[in-house]
Amino acid sequence: MLNLEYKEIRDMVSKFTDAEVAPLAASIDEHGEIPKDLVNKLFENGFMGSYVPEAYGGAGMDYMSYSIIVEEISRGCASTGVLVSAHTSLCIWPILTFGTEDQKKKYLPGLASGGVIGCFCLSEPNAGSDPGTLGTFAEDKGDYYEITGTKNFITNGKDAGVAIVMAKTTKTNDHKGITAFIVDTNFPGFAVQKLEDKLGIRGSSTAQIVLDKVKVPKTNILGEVGKGFKVALSTLDGGRIGIAAQALGISEAAFRYAKKYSKERVQFGKPISELQAIQFMLADMSMNIAASRLLIEKASALKDNEMPYSKEAAQAKLFASEACMNITTKAIQVLGGNGYTREYPVERHFRDAKITEIYEGTSEIQRIVIAANELKDLK
Ligand code: CAA
Repeated sequence: MLNLEYKEIRDMVSKFTDAEVAPLAASIDEHGEIPKDLVNKLFENGFMGSYVPEAYGGAGMDYMSYSIIVEEISRGCASTGVLVSAHTSLCIWPILTFGTEDQKKKYLPGLASGGVIGCFCLSEPNAGSDPGTLGTFAEDKGDYYEITGTKNFITNGKDAGVAIVMAKTTKTNDHKGITAFIVDTNFPGFAVQKLEDKLGIRGSSTAQIVLDKVKVPKTNILGEVGKGFKVALSTLDGGRIGIAAQALGISEAAFRYAKKYSKERVQFGKPISELQAIQFMLADMSMNIAASRLLIEKASALKDNEMPYSKEAAQAKLFASEACMNITTKAIQVLGGNGYTREYPVERHFRDAKITEIYEGTSEIQRIVIAANELKDLK
């Protein structure tokens, strides 16, 4: 069980969420935008650079604290939760892990506490679950590479200042020959082509990015040339814990609302919370939330202790996202007709839940990762 230090972090983020995030969630969903003022507060409070060491401008926390931060913020607003998660897991972490000292000094302070948002460009129109087949190409021009291609479904793509971009440096039909680059989004030729109109997490920007002969200096290669697929997949391992935490936050919000509503709603002469049909739904929600949290804590603890965690991250994401879909569906059921309307927040929670079963690896991909890990020792 988690110690007092983590309880204090949860209490601190929870207070922030209740005061600054949750009251804005309906408007963020309606207007499709997270206010700049809220993003500034996320930076000021250290939530955007939670596990970046203080030497690089971060809050110096660990991955467990980060998971708690994403869960609590997502409880208030799932769009804001994924802004924090994609920025931290998918942009900061690979720089922290694979970056040179110069790259860390150049990029981390801005990303951790300087108001610079990060994104991760892997998926393409023809490379989603099978990213090894991506077509973006980086041509070696001597001192620099020239990158050309199209990237799809890029979380934070509209407002990002820094992007981790995966491109082939050798033309192959598989993952070999992919290299990771750190790309400043103000490099000429980097442009947002389209913003997606989505079912849920409507405040989070999801962009199609076009790179048209973007000149990237060789000093911006992240890790080794030709080893970008490993950078991408190991980054996604951590990202999956963040999405599990986002799903858990959404579940918790829907559960709390359904519980409160069931105590207030009177039918058959008594609050519906006294009906066993409702109690059984609340019991299942409670159990699935508890199990999601334990899986997230396990994966986070393994990561913090530098032990293998691919399987556990996939288990946490798979379980927490499917539980989230189930819990938000049940929350609407508890509210009945009211739950189906925009007047009540569970309708938004239900819409926000679905993406957690899709991005950073679909549920089917998580099952592939779990099974591959279970079977590899038997080969
Ligand atoms: N970490 C590091 N390296 C890994 C790895 C991991 N977790 N998993 C595999 N690798 C390495 C392997 O060791 C292997 O290396 P070698 O070539 O040196 O042997 C190489 O990667 C290929 O391994 P596989 O043959 O197992 O890979 P595969 O092509 O069969 O793919 C997969 C495996 C699990 C299906 C993987 O492709 C995958 O995770 N797909 C889903 C991708 C995904 O999550 N996309 C979401 C994009 S991000 C997003 O959602 C946008 C956003 O902004 C939020």
